Amino acid sequence: MASLTVRKLDEALKASLRLRAAKAGRSVEDEVRMILREAAEAPAKTQSSPARSTPAQPHRPRTPSATDLPRVTLIIGGGIAAYKALDLIRRLKERGIHVRSVMTRAAQQFVTPLTAGALADERCYTDLFDAQSEFDAGHIRLARDTDLIIVAPATADLMAKMAQGHADDLATAILLATNRPVLVAPAMNPLMWANAATKRNVAQLARDGVSFIGPNSGEMAEANEAGVGRMSEPTEIAIAAEAMLRPLHTGPLAGKKILITAGPTHEPIDPVRYIANRSSGKQGYAIAASAADAGADVTLISGPVDLDDPAGVRVIRVESARDMLAQVEAALPVDIAIFAAAVADWRVASAGEQKIKKTASGMPPLQLVENPDILATVSKRQQNRPQLVIGFAAETQNLIDNATSKLKRKGCDWIVANDVSPASGVMGGDRNTVHILTRDKADIAVDSWPVMTKEEVAGALVAKIAETMEE
Ligand code: C5P
Repeated sequence: MASLTVRKLDEALKASLRLRAAKAGRSVEDEVRMILREAAEAPAKTQSSPARSTPAQPHRPRTPSATDLPRVTLIIGGGIAAYKALDLIRRLKERGIHVRSVMTRAAQQFVTPLTAGALADERCYTDLFDAQSEFDAGHIRLARDTDLIIVAPATADLMAKMAQGHADDLATAILLATNRPVLVAPAMNPLMWANAATKRNVAQLARDGVSFIGPNSGEMAEANEAGVGRMSEPTEIAIAAEAMLRPLHTGPLAGKKILITAGPTHEPIDPVRYIANRSSGKQGYAIAASAADAGADVTLISGPVDLDDPAGVRVIRVESARDMLAQVEAALPVDIAIFAAAVADWRVASAGEQKIKKTASGMPPLQLVENPDILATVSKRQQNRPQLVIGFAAETQNLIDNATSKLKRKGCDWIVANDVSPASGVMGGDRNTVHILTRDKADIAVDSWPVMTKEEVAGALVAKIAETMEE
């Protein structure tokens, strides 16, 4: 039987073979074998079947092939949580994600490449200088021919190597050679996680654009040890991966930068007390999620709320109105700004550095001063004013009149007005009835929408924004 040395083929052919192999998720040798097998089988098929005209086929949606699926390269590090990475392969696959696994030498002390390969339906890669990949620069292919790299579990050592840019094994070489997003799920003993060196490495990786999930707090594999260091659960990691894989920059707001404020602000009275309001942040978060779904690049600046970060949105958490203004200004320039936050109008002139104590002389005088108006400040900017500035008016009476004067006074382009009187159930609730006030030359037009869920309001608002931006 003749043997074929792929290395001796000409460069163009090798390049096209590499591409085919990468697309099919096979090694180059496997791809060559596949081509030879198909070629060997093809004449036999044509000889045995008499010529027949093909009846017209009804149109059927094509079942996605392996190459259409979003692709993840999963790097399994050497920690006890490696067994959970095997479950992660299944969790990713059940979400329609193609998984290619890579193991460090240490990981192989905990789980076998055979198991990972069987679960992923593709062999697990372990060596930088892999004889099976022959001429194929395997680490470059694994680094690039993927949509996302997940490192789970990420040990303290692996993160240290990543932070330093080491590339002395397949896992670190892939991480250094990639230009794809990286999601890291750390797992280690709580003392290792709390160590200053690990903290430095995590901060460095975050600065380098690496995303993190976890670690969670809980019991450790070591007896009687608990704390922060448990790897996130496979389902949590799979959900985070799915969010990162969601196609970016497609949809009606593709290419648009949107800034959204949401939630209440907390204005300190002393280190333990603050002035706040009942805003839940739900409407602003729903708008952020909807804008991200529409392909926008979304920054959400949020006061303290009890809500999860919307998928695919950059969330910056703040406490006070002044913090919120600083973050808003730092996020400019943007194309569109939506101010859904219920910013406190006032703050205590000088918040106590220590807890204010009860005294016999009576109640402490709390002098209030006005907070900066973020919406008005941004609307009236000479430089970097967003093309479309939208404010909210939460009113308990004279809704349209108050919203109209707010639109004029603050200098924004639209106002979303809603009735927040206790009877409306809007504050903290899931439904909202809004009126959209827009400038129509010298006049103001009012578009009243029916009662909807906050998600529906968000969807309709984002659609209206997209329409307007297109015009
Ligand atoms: O004046 P009022 O608080 O009712 O205005 C509501 C609108 O103004 C909202 O869009 C809110 O986010 C914004 N606002 C602000 N900064 C403030 C007060 C309100 O951005 N200090």
